Amino acid sequence: MAFKILVAGDIVGSPGREMIRNHLEAYVEANSIDFTIVNGENAAGGLGISAAIAQRLFEWGVDAITTGDHVWKKKDIISAIQTDVRILRPANFPVESPGRGHTCIKSASGQSVGIVNVVGRVFMNPAECPFKAADRAVAELREQTRVILVDVHAEATSEKIAMGWHLNGRVSAVYGTHTHVQTADERVLSGGTAYISDIGMVGGHESVLGRKTEAVLKKFITNLPAHFDVAAGDPRLCGAVITVDPVSGKAEAIERVVITPD
Ligand SMILES: [Fe+2]
Ligand SMILES: [Fe+2]
Repeated sequence: MAFKILVAGDIVGSPGREMIRNHLEAYVEANSIDFTIVNGENAAGGLGISAAIAQRLFEWGVDAITTGDHVWKKKDIISAIQTDVRILRPANFPVESPGRGHTCIKSASGQSVGIVNVVGRVFMNPAECPFKAADRAVAELREQTRVILVDVHAEATSEKIAMGWHLNGRVSAVYGTHTHVQTADERVLSGGTAYISDIGMVGGHESVLGRKTEAVLKKFITNLPAHFDVAAGDPRLCGAVITVDPVSGKAEAIERVVITPD
């Protein structure tokens, strides 16, 4: 029987968290979702994620949390990430970083799900090679399961598409996060790997990437330092549903998702 995974993009502040709290459970129920992964790097006030927020996301039905360049912005996540295998930091961070960049978690139905998190290097802070880091993580996870999803948290579509082809046939899905803008290029690659360049954002879309438009515009126009408050208008939960054959690990379908409050 097919295994369905919902992946949701960067949760931005309380408007994003409210979308998870109010809409995730009903969507999972109505669409027979077996497993849910969210990117939580902006869940706390738009920057970072606290241990308490991670815990709340799990209580609201999230099974695993990936992150990205903003992972360490709230300090108490450091101890949580060391003890909770459901929270990931990028696998290509320095080996000395706390926590882990890949994990294997059992779903409610008992299916093992492998998850890998990497950051890109194009227009981003220095990091180890994401392709080599993904190779190592995937090789280790394939000893345990064929259902493997890779969150490539990166700016450039070229780097993300390259990762899709690099892992084609070895993982169930490669999906992008970090830009907060959902792309319309979802497809299943030739080897059975579902791919999308970015799954988008969970947060207020009357904004610039989840932040209040006026402040961001002011910064662009004047170049003066500005504080970017989280925006609440037009909240949406953006992501994708990936349908996988759990025996082969190959994706059968990938579908974009945008949930709005009615
Ligand atoms: Fe983000
Ligand atoms: Fe990011």
